[in-house]
Amino acid sequence: MIPEPPHDCRLCPRLAAFRDENANEYPDFFNGPVPTFGAADARLLVVGLAPGLKGANRTGRPFTGDWAGDLLYKMLLKHGLANGHYDERPDDGLKLCGCTITNAVRCVPPENKPLPFEIKACRRFLSAQISAMPNLRAILALGKVAHDSVCDTLGVRKSQYPFKHGAAYKLDTVTLVSSYHCSRYNTNTGVLTEAMFDAVVKQAKKAAMS
Ligand code: URA
Repeated sequence: MIPEPPHDCRLCPRLAAFRDENANEYPDFFNGPVPTFGAADARLLVVGLAPGLKGANRTGRPFTGDWAGDLLYKMLLKHGLANGHYDERPDDGLKLCGCTITNAVRCVPPENKPLPFEIKACRRFLSAQISAMPNLRAILALGKVAHDSVCDTLGVRKSQYPFKHGAAYKLDTVTLVSSYHCSRYNTNTGVLTEAMFDAVVKQAKKAAMS
């Protein structure tokens, strides 16, 4: 069993207080650290930033119900990394194939912005996840926070492996592929187009499966 944060994790006081507020306001939401989705024997790990308030924090599955999830799951389905139908619900029956999804920070942060302390505190869970994946060949980091946290987890220097969309760094047995985050902001502003994201998912799959 991979250590997951407990539902009432209090490592980050600000995030725990925000969760408490949200639990009051939205008692039907998941309102906890969102667990990893997918199997530990996968060759590809997708690392996002953190749950969205009314997306993954509501549904309890990474990217599920989030704007970013519409694009991510569409591409995973297109590239055969998921199977079934994505219906924005954790019980939609969608299965991941050779891929697993987690977040650099497991709890929803205010304004989608985790603090450096929170990224660091949550890294123990990312580290446990990576260590528990014996077949891991590639990591697709969505955004700079995820990229940097993966570098810190793997103990490599960020100055040597800077975040860049489409970069693929061979780090020992794992290739780190990085992408702009597939957020609503990045897609609405054209920072990340669907074609760019399609290409980077394809690149990550190739690195994982070769
Ligand atoms: N939902 C997640 O679970 N992670 C993100 O990075 C964005 C939305």
